[in-house]
Amino acid sequence: MQYKRILLKLSGEALMGDRQYGIDPKRLKEYAQEIKQVLATGVEIAIVIGGGNIFRGVAGAANGMDRVQGDHMGMLATCINGLALQSALEDEDVHTRLQTALEIKEVAEPYIKRKAIRHLEKGRVVIFGAGTGNPYFTTDTAAVLRAIEIDADAILKGTRVNGIYNVDPEKDKNAIKFDTITFKDVIKKGLKVMDMTAFTLSEENKLPIIVFDMNTKGNLLKLISGEQIGTVVDN
Ligand code: GTP
Repeated sequence: MQYKRILLKLSGEALMGDRQYGIDPKRLKEYAQEIKQVLATGVEIAIVIGGGNIFRGVAGAANGMDRVQGDHMGMLATCINGLALQSALEDEDVHTRLQTALEIKEVAEPYIKRKAIRHLEKGRVVIFGAGTGNPYFTTDTAAVLRAIEIDADAILKGTRVNGIYNVDPEKDKNAIKFDTITFKDVIKKGLKVMDMTAFTLSEENKLPIIVFDMNTKGNLLKLISGEQIGTVVDN
């Protein structure tokens, strides 16, 4: 087994499925089933989920809202998604804990690194909500930060494209996919993997990033089993 402990980053938008807004129960169930399969292989799984299907702070700011206010709304949105994912996982009989970076004690545990690690060791899926708890940071940054803190072997970034290409594959059908690429080459070629804060944090801490298509059934399990899925960014 290639990985002992992973941090899975899921986008909030992906939870919309074919909808324009909110959570698609079918997509949520599919994700829960994929995660359950991978957990059964013995890998420890932590998850950071975005909130863009409900609210994006940046979009709020673009419409004249105070950025900090908007980011707080975005953080709460990730908690809503975290609760939804927790329910979906528990429907599949997966043990979970939700920990949040902002305290909402009646709803979820506060983020405590040592507790998170104990939960993982006991085979529970730990979902981290509320991003980093700070405005001006993305959930990608939260994912990298938590991955480093819990000593994950890699961050698996689930997207709707199956990896990193030299040009946008949704705009150019001749786009070429990289199987592996270095952090330095991503920057040199001006490719977009994560925002720079998240990306450099990952590079400095030698945390590999794997970008893969989470919406193709079985992909997550294949990736964990060592198949060439997506693109690996490494030193
Ligand atoms: P271990 O006993 O170490 O295996 O962990 P545990 O999570 O089972 O123990 P704990 O007694 O801490 O938690 C029992 C339940 O209460 C779990 O479902 C936790 O998620 C939940 N829980 C623990 N702390 C909090 C909290 O501060 N707020 C909320 N809402 N739930 C909590």
